[in-house]
Amino acid sequence: METDKRWEEDIRPFLSCIEMSRRQRIVMTVIILGSFVYVILTQAVHMLDGLPGEPVHPEVRKFCSAMNKQKVNRGAENESSPIIYVVTPTYKRPEMVAELTRLGQTLSMVQNIHWIVAEDSATCSRPITGLLQRLGLPYTHLATPMPDVYRKERYVPRGVSNRRAALQWVRDYGKNTGVLFFLDDDNAIDIRLFEEMRSTETVSMWPVGLIGEYTVSSPVVKNGKVVGFYDGWPAGRKFQVDMAGFAVGVGYMKKQKKVTMPYIAGHEEDGFLKSLNININEIEVKANGCTDILVWHTRTAKNPLRNLNIESHQNDNIKVLTDNMKQLGMIK
Ligand code: UGA
Ligand code: MN
Repeated sequence: METDKRWEEDIRPFLSCIEMSRRQRIVMTVIILGSFVYVILTQAVHMLDGLPGEPVHPEVRKFCSAMNKQKVNRGAENESSPIIYVVTPTYKRPEMVAELTRLGQTLSMVQNIHWIVAEDSATCSRPITGLLQRLGLPYTHLATPMPDVYRKERYVPRGVSNRRAALQWVRDYGKNTGVLFFLDDDNAIDIRLFEEMRSTETVSMWPVGLIGEYTVSSPVVKNGKVVGFYDGWPAGRKFQVDMAGFAVGVGYMKKQKKVTMPYIAGHEEDGFLKSLNININEIEVKANGCTDILVWHTRTAKNPLRNLNIESHQNDNIKVLTDNMKQLGMIK
């Protein structure tokens, strides 16, 4: 009895908190219900379009120019062979035209490809248009700037606005028999890789050289099936691959409900492949059972954007030379 009484005295101050007036109870109910509604609404927004890495601001996409048929005669194109849509993001810097010239001239050696060059810029660069016209391969040139919010992030998701726009283009205009392949402007590629990937139906993969701690990133293959990844930066990724390490069948991609590439640096490939709903054991193995290196994640040294003093060269070739360099975006 004695202990019961003391216990009552002990908890009285707490009980007084619970014994609320009618007004307090109404306020409390409103707060609890309000929080409930808030949680449900934010979850709904998250599920609809606020998933991690999904843009909340509109993405600007501008069409620059295109060519649908091969202009330069490199032998008859085989109409029945699947088209490879090669998606290359690029951005203005002193090396841009050099990178695209090297890559474009490699691509000119390949039949049945369509090069989608998507610039991280609000405007279409003239030297790119000129280059694409001269190369004579089927192409589409887009201007697809990165939304400002992402440029301010600590780890900037490079090339994502461009690839997302190209993805939309492929979904809208790509042939179902075609194959999609992402190739960054600074990578190096052996043209034999195109014939490897051309038969892709769902998702195919192969090793990429010069990646991270292992100097390579590759699927691990056992009995002809992918069973995991050999990559120095697992980072919790389901698909530990580089952007140049896989291709996707366009018809297969079009059948998936919500194909996307997130604005999350380092996780673009993983996010994209997850959105394709492919199982690891269904991946098509290429490059001799993932034993050959046919593409490299090369990187070009960066040059500062200089302002040259050519005062003493107003009457010689240096004036014209530097004007041309300006046009190519090599100097200020
Ligand atoms: C690596 C991967 O290879 C990329 O596929 C991936 O997008 C990137 O990391 C990332 O996670 O952010 P890395 O060599 O480190 O690429 O990056 P860059 O070569 O500088 O950029 C990748 C692509 O995006 C290039 O084609 C580049 O021209 C383009 N880019 C880069 C832009 O469009 N805008 C930029 O501001 C920077
Ligand atoms: Mn790169």
